Amino acid sequence: MSVISFATSKGGAGKTTACIVLGTTFADQLKVSIIDADPAHRVNRWAEKGPYPKSITVIKCADENRIMDVIEAEQEKSDVVLVDLEGVASKLNSYVFSMSDLVIVPTGDEQQDVEDAILTLKQIKLDSRASRRDIPAKVLFARTKAAVKSRLEKKLNKQMRDNVDCFEAELKTRTAFSSIHNSGGNLDSLPSDVSGVDKAKENAREIAKEIIATFQQAKQEAVA
Ligand SMILES: Nc1ncnc2c1ncn2[C@@H]1O[C@H](COP(=O)(O)OP(=O)(O)O)[C@@H](O)[C@H]1O
Ligand SMILES: [Mg+2]
Repeated sequence: MSVISFATSKGGAGKTTACIVLGTTFADQLKVSIIDADPAHRVNRWAEKGPYPKSITVIKCADENRIMDVIEAEQEKSDVVLVDLEGVASKLNSYVFSMSDLVIVPTGDEQQDVEDAILTLKQIKLDSRASRRDIPAKVLFARTKAAVKSRLEKKLNKQMRDNVDCFEAELKTRTAFSSIHNSGGNLDSLPSDVSGVDKAKENAREIAKEIIATFQQAKQEAVA
């Protein structure tokens, strides 16, 4: 059904982590497909680490000629289709944007992250023009400090929030989120020595809820 992609030109911004964490969170209640469309195939590496919920299907496809067919096929099968992208402006990314109900743009609250997020939003705007459809995009502050932000971080964070659509909740820097890459599975299957799992689960659920609310609002606006 709904297609959500993860994009920003900044490497290490948290695209793949957000994709896996949100995918496994949605999988508690929904059928989820995760399409690994980054040639580095980090989602696939996670999938190979260990068992993940049965309600998740992982598909590797970084082929621009096949990606739209793959997305359509997964939309038939799943409630939500997540697409993890490489941080580049490419034909493949444009095709994925054109089919996305929401593009999530993860960013930190440092200057370079914010600049890259803005560039990515501009790229999505160009793709919106090309496909004659407003492609919904929303910034997700990710890998941000769980503790208090510095004055500069607060300023950049606020500037972004004042100017573009952002998720209220942030995917904070947490060991539980980085550990999922090493252990595979979901937040429930992490080794017992990983701390802060409950907080991480709560954090992931907050964002998942906001995504669902964003879709509900878009539906209402479409009817009005
Ligand atoms: N919220 C987070 N908390 C802790 N570590 C994170 C978080 N997000 C990303 N990381 C770590 O940062 C690195 C880069 O993140 P990744 O999701 O692969 O970025 P991208 O896909 O944008 O390149 C990974 O090693 C991951 O473990
Ligand atoms: Mg990635």
